[in-house]
Formats: sequence, C-alpha cells, structure tokens
Amino acid sequence: MYKVLCREMVVPNIHIMKIHAPHVARSSRPGQFVILMPDERGERVPLNIADWDKEEGSITVVFMEVGTSTRKLAYTNPNGYIPTCVGPLGIPSSIDRFGSVVCAGGCYGIGALFPVARALREAGNRVIAILEAKSSYLLYWENRFKSVCDELILTTEDATLGEKGHAPRILEKILKEYEVDRVFAYGCTFMMMSCSEATRPFGVKTRVSLNPIMVDGTGMCGVCRVPVGGKVRFACVDGPEFDGHEVDWEVLLSRRHSYIEEEVHSLKCYETDQFS
Ligand code: FES
Repeated sequence: MYKVLCREMVVPNIHIMKIHAPHVARSSRPGQFVILMPDERGERVPLNIADWDKEEGSITVVFMEVGTSTRKLAYTNPNGYIPTCVGPLGIPSSIDRFGSVVCAGGCYGIGALFPVARALREAGNRVIAILEAKSSYLLYWENRFKSVCDELILTTEDATLGEKGHAPRILEKILKEYEVDRVFAYGCTFMMMSCSEATRPFGVKTRVSLNPIMVDGTGMCGVCRVPVGGKVRFACVDGPEFDGHEVDWEVLLSRRHSYIEEEVHSLKCYETDQFS
C-alpha cells in the first residue's frame, strides 16, 4: 500500500496528490509517468509525475477529475492509502541544451510540464513558459514556474489574467518575433495538437506528451497505440513524449473517446452507490 501524504484540489476539478513511493522517487525523470489505482478493483490510471523528493521518498501527480477512477482518487483521504503506484514508466523527456525553449502548459499538463521546464533551465536553456487556462481562477503553479523559467506568460480565455486567448496564439506571436529552438507542449490532446499546428509553419520541433488510454503501461496490451510518423507506436514504452508534427492527431482523438459512454455510465453508477 502507498501512503497518500497530501491530496488537495488546487483549482476546481484539478487535484494534486503526493504519494510516499521511495522506489519511484529515486529514479524519476522529467516526462515520465506512474500508474495508480484508487482501489484494488479500480481502473489503472496513468499520470505524469509532476515532482518528486528523493529524501522524503515522495512523488507528486496532478490530475483532473474526469471519470470514476479519478473521482475516487480525488476523494482519497489525505493520510489514506492507495494499493498501486507503478513507475517511473515511459521514456524521459528529451532534455538537452537547445538554446531558447518555449514550454506551453494547460490544464493538468501544467503539473506534468513543471519538471520538464526545470530540467531544461538546469541544462542551460533560456526557458519561456506559457500557462493557459479558461480563467484566472483555473491557473496554478505560477510561482513554481517563475522560479524555474526566464519568462512566464499567462494567458486566459476570458482575459481575467495575462493575455487573452490560448497558448497556440501566444506561441505564434513568440515564433514570429524571436528565434526559438524547441517547443514543449503539455496539456489536453486538443491543446497539444493546436500547439503543434501553430509551430509547424515555423519548422520548430515540438515535443508533446501524449495521454491515450492505457492498461498495463509496459507495452503488452496495445491499448495506448498511436500512429506517429507513419508507424504504430506505444505511448507507454515508446513515449509518452513524441514529435507533435508526426502524431496522427485524428486517430489519437478518436481512440481517446472510445469508451465515453461506458465512462458516463460508470460514473452514474458510482454516484448512485455513493449517495443512496
Ligand atoms: Fe498497454 Fe501501452 S498501455 S501497451
């Protein structure tokens, strides 16, 4: 069993969970993920590692409450336990000294992007971070990003904080004005697709962290397959980070929606159980 050291809703619908998992904390690298189970009969939930503390033996994940399993995780008692925490899984992010790098994050991707931005800065890059949200009350970890980036740009759809609009628009603006050597975009599938489309005309390599449905997370079940560069790749062992210009976004989006009806049904059953 893995002890939950802290669990809190950081902004509406987005939760942070710190888990005691020394074996994962010891070898975590930016861009990797863990698979958690909220209970012994629960679904396996892949979540990017947003931070780790080797001394404390803890890892931190950030997740959005979208279905039954993430609802259960969101209601885990701080100081409670979860039965499974497998990881670190996946290939670490491609960190190098590129020069000037833009890191764009949205939604739960903001958490996942944090260790990537930190590692890029430590590698000697000039790092500009763009954090996007629908509204100011949905942005989080601005101070954390400020501490590891050269410049932080906030953008909200309703213009309640920072620039008005979405990350891809800000990205385009930056690319028109400055020389950028690499872009990292972490967020929902649509956001990463839009960022990749924004950078494509400028020919700036764009790394995205894919979040397809996963089961085993070790390359055996094939559920996480996605076409990248004309080849079938498994996000759990070949990724989750890929070149955004090579991802077949249409296939990825349609596969992510395969079980929407079942998800809705499952959540209804869970809520009925909880409140009856
Ligand atoms: Fe099973 Fe990737 S999750 S092959």
